[in-house]
Amino acid sequence: MGDLPEEFPCTITNWEYIYGLCRTVSDDVKADDFEPDVVVALARGGWFAGRTLCDFLGLDDLTSLKIEHYVGTAAKGDEPEVRYPMPEGSVEGKDVLIVDDIADTGQSIAHASEYVNDRNPNAVRTATLQLLQTSEVEPDFVGERLEEWAWVVYPWNFIEDMIDLTESVMEKAEAEQFSEGDVRSLLRAYHEIDPIEMEIAQPDRLEEVLTEMERRDVIEYAGEDCWTVP
Ligand code: ADE
Repeated sequence: MGDLPEEFPCTITNWEYIYGLCRTVSDDVKADDFEPDVVVALARGGWFAGRTLCDFLGLDDLTSLKIEHYVGTAAKGDEPEVRYPMPEGSVEGKDVLIVDDIADTGQSIAHASEYVNDRNPNAVRTATLQLLQTSEVEPDFVGERLEEWAWVVYPWNFIEDMIDLTESVMEKAEAEQFSEGDVRSLLRAYHEIDPIEMEIAQPDRLEEVLTEMERRDVIEYAGEDCWTVP
């Protein structure tokens, strides 16, 4: 989740909701009469959207691209690093739709556009499921615009994000041990995660998160339905 402050709002989403955003993007692409030959899904957040858009648009040409950009780290320079490049000839002469989950700074979409444009495509458009106002880039197609900045917890990495968030709130709380209820309160206090909204979006998942944290040795079971950070 990178360099984030101690407290920041999070929004928990689910598959139905995200699938709906894919539908909106696909409707917009069709309404615009853009008929891409290939979808370039940015790894890994753009994978679900890329695959679903191929289904909705009737495409079987889906490729992946991962570009990492380091912000403000002098040692690594400002040059984006291409972690896995696209196969030779995958966009040359084609109409390309670049897809990602969210435009936050807009860096991923900007670098990917540059990378694809350098490979002689016929046309390039960009799409994201969600757009934050912090983005310096305005994708051509957007599923929804978020008025307030939030960290969006997506269903494809729900466990990963919830483990990170839970571990960090436990460390900040400095208590000896935590019950499931304590964790819910902390997630609300630090990340504005409403317990009821969380149960609606992702029912009965917190217990699974805690069990998985235990399995990964992030926390230890302390008895009486409580856990500690070792
Ligand atoms: N990746 C980059 N910014 C993000 C955000 N705000 N929420 C989820 N994933 C992100």
